[in-house]
Amino acid sequence: MDKFIINGGNPISGSVDISGAKNAVLPLMTAALLVDGETTINSVPDLRDTRTMIRLLKIIGAEVAFKNNSLAINASGVNNLEAPYDLVKTMRASFYVLGPLLARFGEVRVSLPGGCAWGPRPVDYHLKGLEKLGATISLESGYIMAKAKYLKGNKISFDFPSVGATGNILMASVLARGETRIENAAKEPEIVQLCEVLNKMGANIIGIGTDKITVHGVDKLHSVDIDVIPDRVEAGTYLIAGATMGDITLNNCNPKHLEDVIDKLKLSGANISSTENSLSIEKIELVEAVDVTTEVYPGFPTDLQAQWMAFMSIANGKSTIIDTVYHDRFTHIPELNRLGADIQLKDNKAIVNGVKKLTGAQVMSTDIRASAALILGAIMAEGKTEISRVYHIDRGYDSIEKKFQSLGADIKRINQ
Ligand code: EPZ
Repeated sequence: MDKFIINGGNPISGSVDISGAKNAVLPLMTAALLVDGETTINSVPDLRDTRTMIRLLKIIGAEVAFKNNSLAINASGVNNLEAPYDLVKTMRASFYVLGPLLARFGEVRVSLPGGCAWGPRPVDYHLKGLEKLGATISLESGYIMAKAKYLKGNKISFDFPSVGATGNILMASVLARGETRIENAAKEPEIVQLCEVLNKMGANIIGIGTDKITVHGVDKLHSVDIDVIPDRVEAGTYLIAGATMGDITLNNCNPKHLEDVIDKLKLSGANISSTENSLSIEKIELVEAVDVTTEVYPGFPTDLQAQWMAFMSIANGKSTIIDTVYHDRFTHIPELNRLGADIQLKDNKAIVNGVKKLTGAQVMSTDIRASAALILGAIMAEGKTEISRVYHIDRGYDSIEKKFQSLGADIKRINQ
């Protein structure tokens, strides 16, 4: 398992290109299963998760070519309606094949996704929604079996605006008979792009970007060419790096997707300027402590909660961080404390007492975003940090060490 060696304290400067969004491209890849033909997707990040999804699509029988960040997915020859356990257990987003395969073929068998480092990740909203569309769902030795002679539109209301469940139900309902109304739908930019792409394929979706989406089912969808939106979570990660270690510019990002993050960074003292597709941030001399409560979009994203905690660990004063999306997403606290941070957890509230400086140590990645937080802590820290299990970070960040090296950080990958 690879690890990173980071010697902290280097100022960073220059510009970095933000990659396509992981959480947009994964559902777009499974949406290609809805089309009896070829779908091309550009600006695809080269990640463990996108490569896992490519393997899954090939197991299902699609032809997939990936070159120069472009994917060509031909789903005409799909012949195996099963997503196997040993693949699904490594990536929860595999569950996104459920909706499209059920919609196009009337049956599908998907292994139940396991939990993750920070706790259970249920899929009850996905299953209840598909039952509302007329599917028969059963659980057989850890696999979800879903069957439907045909899907029929219905009204579906989520207890929580789940990104994944909204995505799955959208991909199921576009080929259902009649009208589906999704209430309390997720409004994340990644779901907005999925709706826009499905409409480009010939679907009929209205209310895009709101929490009330209406889908009028159609008979068939056709091939399209897609450009993935920039990754707002990757962009937020580099913004925090710039706020602490030096003036940097992010190219190919969408400031509109980061409004709450930009507001909080300005409250902490950051000087940020933006154009339509770039963001520049200057190093803050004295970081003000700013409380954050994560919310569904357009609130502060849970996927930047760990990175914000690393940032607040060297702020001037005390801050609190609450995660309302995942109440137990705090496995990064003990690792940040090993770097000298002073963070306590009470229920789903972290109390961060800012310290003057962090000090390098051996730490361990536990999930994608916790790993990003440890990299941020390590580049701020005095001395050497060794981060193990970096396969977590490779799941969600394209060439992160190369991008940080190009900004002047002293970070090396040790292949083990
Ligand atoms: C997506 O996960 C993202 N993953 C996550 O990013 C992100 O943290 C999450 O949305 C929230 O924004 C992808 O897009 C691939 P949810 P998802 O369904 O769809 C509960 C990263 O680091 N829930 O919106 O799985 C659930 O337990 C990853 O890139 C149910 O109870 O998230 C959670 O508390 C991590 N039942 C809340 O809803 C369900 O059936 C939000 O989950 C589904 C969800």
